[in-house]
Amino acid sequence: MLTAELPQTRFADPPVDGLRLLDRPRPGVDPFDGFGPALQRAHALAAAYIESLPTRPVSRQATPAAMAAALAEPLPESGVAPDAAVAEWLGRAEPGIVASSGPRFFGWVIGGTTPAALAGDWLAAALNQCAAGWAVSPAAIQTELTVLGWLKELFGLPADRVGALTSGTSMSHLVGLAAARQWASGRLGFDAARDGLAGHPPIPVLASTEIHVSAVKALAILGIGRSSLQKLPAPGGSVDLDALAAALAAIDGPAIVVANAGEVNTGAFDDIAAMADLCARHPGGAWLHVDGAFGLFAAASPQTARLVRGVERADSVAADAHKWLNVPYDSGFVLVRDAEALRAAFAVAAAYIAPQDGTVWDPFRQSHTPELARRFRGLPVWCALKALGRTGVQALVERCLGNAAAFAGWVEAEPGLELVAPAPLNIVCFRYAPAGLDPEATDAFNRAAVTALQADGRVVVSGTNWRGREAVRAAFDNWATGPADVAILERAVADVGRRLVADGRAGGSGLAAR
Ligand SMILES: Cc1ncc(COP(=O)(O)O)c(C=O)c1O
Repeated sequence: MLTAELPQTRFADPPVDGLRLLDRPRPGVDPFDGFGPALQRAHALAAAYIESLPTRPVSRQATPAAMAAALAEPLPESGVAPDAAVAEWLGRAEPGIVASSGPRFFGWVIGGTTPAALAGDWLAAALNQCAAGWAVSPAAIQTELTVLGWLKELFGLPADRVGALTSGTSMSHLVGLAAARQWASGRLGFDAARDGLAGHPPIPVLASTEIHVSAVKALAILGIGRSSLQKLPAPGGSVDLDALAAALAAIDGPAIVVANAGEVNTGAFDDIAAMADLCARHPGGAWLHVDGAFGLFAAASPQTARLVRGVERADSVAADAHKWLNVPYDSGFVLVRDAEALRAAFAVAAAYIAPQDGTVWDPFRQSHTPELARRFRGLPVWCALKALGRTGVQALVERCLGNAAAFAGWVEAEPGLELVAPAPLNIVCFRYAPAGLDPEATDAFNRAAVTALQADGRVVVSGTNWRGREAVRAAFDNWATGPADVAILERAVADVGRRLVADGRAGGSGLAAR
């Protein structure tokens, strides 16, 4: 059931039993005493919290001093009962818990959690499988393989891609670009994993000005270097293909090209198919890496699948499950075309972790990620996809698309507000444009509006700067958000605008009367 009409009441901390529990330590109680009471307490507290999400204030303004006062303390000398520890933490940390998994959180791109995904995550913790290799958990490894197969089917990616579940798109960038580095070094006549990069020619990277900071960070970590990146213009948010063609033409050897499938400010897409064509034509070879953190999910709906046309030709694709798939943090995935480059980048060898059976995929021998020991990430994703099925994912995506379109339409129709860019997917980037304000005052108005909206309690949005102008963003990727929540967002945006106008931030404005 994806719809949940929300009461149009004011939002207040709910009188939920458990959230306010401040269990005091019970000295002398055995800290190893029984899983039952601790798990039951955690279940009761979690259930109460989840039930409160539709009506609790969505933001928290706790100061560092307040949180330190609530939580900072020396290492306890003696222990407490497990259930008391769990309840005490929640009672003390509660002023700093942001309802970011609830239906009225529109800031940045933050996912909620589906019931199946959350239950799977709990079970994964309880089973505590070490997803390092076949020998330690055939269940975890096969689940991961199955899940990766499902993700390829869901997004129309070729079945021969290999990959891994990761902690998120940042780590997926690191993995995909490590494979790219390995491939490029082979083209340049060395082995990056074996030799390092010192003394070898730089590996050029091309992307638009809108490349996500996490991909740039991966280049820095990998030793490719931030300065190897050439940023190309993206006037409307999508990379200028002529500029990309010219930049590639100026490169003799191999290049890495990073494409955006869903740019974080506005949700804009690069033309991935055209980029794949340019990469294929580059004489020195070009590795196409796609950042599909949330935008890859466009492939799950016929309404938006055209936006990611060509992604099936990418050499590596990085994306998140903890955003639009609504799997609890942290959860991402990466899929790579060149299995050899991937494995060479992360290969490990040691007698104590020698594989049992060379016929099975075993990260002990054929590691796909920087880690050795890993959390059992496959289970929550398996449960999420099993419970939703392909049609459920499509419905989830389309529901969010509907919410985003409704909000974008409202912004366009509302005097004193304007879209700063088209909203092709699930991000609506807009600004207050009160009459009579110069550009600087308009920027100040928008900054103040974001602060006010984050403090408001009904909703959270986030701010950005788009093409030199301050703007507001609302992202729609939570399965639980319904039309009533969008209406609350609209009311909050209008109220804050009116309040700022009344406070003298703007003279006359369409925001003043409604
Ligand atoms: C387009 C894009 N790429 C990469 C990332 C980084 O993802 P993560 O925080 O999961 O590492 C984000 C996060 O918002 C994003 O929006």
